[in-house]
Order: sequence, then structure tokens, then C-alpha cells
Amino acid sequence: MVSPATRRSLLRVRAMDFLTSTAILPLLFGCLGIFGLFRLLQWMRARAYLRGAVVVITGATSGLGRECAKVFHAAGAKLVLCGRNVEALEELTKELSASHATKVQTHKPHTVTFDLTDPGAVATAAAEITRCFGHVDILINNAGISYRGAVQDTTLDVDKRVMETNYFGPVALTKALLPGMLRRRQGHVVAISSVQGRIGIPFRSAYAASKHATQAFFDCLRAEVEQDEIEVTVISPGYIHTNLSVNAVTADGSRYGAMDQNTAQGRSPAEVARAVLAAVGRKQKDVVLADLQPSLGIYLRTLAPGLFFRLMASRARKERKAKDS
Ligand SMILES: NC(=O)c1ccc[n+]([C@@H]2O[C@H](COP(=O)([O-])OP(=O)(O)OC[C@H]3O[C@@H](n4cnc5c(N)ncnc54)[C@H](OP(=O)(O)O)[C@@H]3O)[C@@H](O)[C@H]2O)c1
Repeated sequence: MVSPATRRSLLRVRAMDFLTSTAILPLLFGCLGIFGLFRLLQWMRARAYLRGAVVVITGATSGLGRECAKVFHAAGAKLVLCGRNVEALEELTKELSASHATKVQTHKPHTVTFDLTDPGAVATAAAEITRCFGHVDILINNAGISYRGAVQDTTLDVDKRVMETNYFGPVALTKALLPGMLRRRQGHVVAISSVQGRIGIPFRSAYAASKHATQAFFDCLRAEVEQDEIEVTVISPGYIHTNLSVNAVTADGSRYGAMDQNTAQGRSPAEVARAVLAAVGRKQKDVVLADLQPSLGIYLRTLAPGLFFRLMASRARKERKAKDS
């Protein structure tokens, strides 16, 4: 009769014999080597793709857009930075031109100032953007505003303003720049959506609606232009530590003006910008950049919608109670 301890040590010896006497170890190292080589090739292709590419970034004056400007500039892209605030754009251009934190050849960015909610201004800006370097390789639709409020308290003007900034503005700019990409049979359109483009959470109706519309529009576009060699990437981040909640619009159209706890605890915009750069470099089609809880929310909404709706209703009750107390 063999004791359990002897059996365990016999098993250990047999396992070691298997590992050392067969082709397992060489096979393991071979797989790791192939994987490492694959990642290196992927990284080199992404770098080559971005180096010298003409990249347009909307909402470059603040938060994620500003950090995207830094990482794409450092990757050697030729930038066209867009926003409404001329001074902020000029300051960023100076900062980028003065930075030498990269071995890659960098290029002095151009700036184009316009308001995304003004269709006439978007059309004029698109022509100006194209004139900067003669064409556009990558358009990053990043600019956006958030919203805080209850559906029944919110004026339709507020709903429209959020949709104009987050949906119609990017759609108009994309439509204006797409013909140039189609002519060259080369281009990449990126939409910065949100986890709220996949799930609706209470007191964010206008924002979530605008991001759901964004996701759907760019999913449709991706299918339509794939045969023309145009890439479409939709990126859905969770909370990012930016001024998004501070700049958010409320039910009556006034500025929310406060940093929400969730936003304050969000990822750093620099980290998210690096993830955006990687996703664009790898030409990924759809990326969720979120922690476990929001990612679970997306799966729950699809696989157990009843439970998801109950959780959201409970969250709404809690938020209303906290607000009323
Ligand atoms: N922060 C988050 O938790 C979070 C999470 C998921 C997704 N996102 C998305 O990330 C993107 C960037 O937001 P952020 O977090 O970086 O917020 P942010 O710091 O408030 O930046 C928003 C940017 O959008 C621009 N913008 C706003 N309204 C505009 C308009 N009408 N016309 C032109 N530009 C306008 C702003 O430029 P001005 O200087 O002109 O105001 C600013 O550069 C947004 O699409 C947002 O929905 C953010």
C-alpha cells in the first residue's frame, strides 16, 4: 500500500520527468518566442502606420483629446488639432513643438478652431483641415460633452445640444472628410464613444443616447467602407479623470460645474490616450477600455437584461433619495 505522501512525491517526479524528457520545454519556449515576435511585428507595423500620418483630433484643448495630441505627436504624426478655444490650442501647439521626448521625427501641429454644433462651421473647418497637409489619414472624433439630469426635467433644447455636439457634429465632420479618404482609398475614422454607448444609466439619458447613436452610426459606416480600404474604430472608455463632468450640461442647460466622484476616480487621460494610440495603430475595430464593473454591465445588458434593468432602477432610486435628502 503506497502512502499519500509517497504518491504525491511520485507524481511530482513523473511531472518533472515529463517536462524535462519530452519536447514540452522547447515547445513552450518556441510558443513564447513566436508570440513575442508577433507582438514586436505588430508594434513595428503600428509605429510605421502612425509615423508621418495626418491625424485630426477634435476636442484637443482638454482631457483625453489633449493627451491624444501628445502621444500621436510623439509617435511622429502630423497633427491638426481642433477645438473652440484658440488660446488653449496655441498653448498646446507650443508645448508639443518644444517637447523632445521622442526619437521619432515630429511635426509642428496645425490648429483649426470651430464649434461642432454649427454645421456651417464644420463644413468650412473640414476644408481648412484638408488644406493643412493636403489630405487626412486619421480622423479622431473625440470632442464631446456630458449631461446630468432627469428625463422629465430636461428641456428638449438640452437633448438637442448634447446630440449636436456628440453625434451630429462628428457625423458632419466625418461626412465632410470621407470623400477625400474614399478618393485615396485610404483613411481611418475613430469615434471616442463611451461605455454609456452600450448601456443606459439613469440621469444620463441625453449623453447615453448620443453615444448609442455614435456606436450605431460608426458600426454601419465600418461595414459600408471596408471595401474601400477605410478603417473605422469605435473606442468606448469607462470613467476618465478629466473635466467632462465639470463641463457637463444640466437639465436646464446650465453648466454642472462639479467633479463627480466616479470621474475623479477614473483612469488617467494619459493612460487612455496610450490605449487609443495602440488601438488605432493596430486598426482595431471596437474597443472597450473599462474596468470589471462597467464591462460586466455590458454583458449583463445583453445576457440578463431583466436583472440589468432592476439594478439600474435601484441605482436611480438611490441617486434620487441622495439628491432629495
Ligand atoms: N471623462 C470620461 O469619464 C469619459 C468617459 C467615456 C468617454 N469619454 C469621452 O471622451 C471624449 C473627451 O472627453 P473628456 O473626458 O476629455 O472631456 P473634456 O475634458 O471636457 O474635453 C471635451 C473636449 O470637447 C470639446 N468640445 C466640447 N464641446 C464642443 C463643441 N461644441 N465644439 C467643439 N469642441 C467641443 C472641448 O473643447 P472646448 O475647449 O472647445 O470646450 C474639449 O476639448 C468625449 O467624447 C467623452 O464623451 C469621456
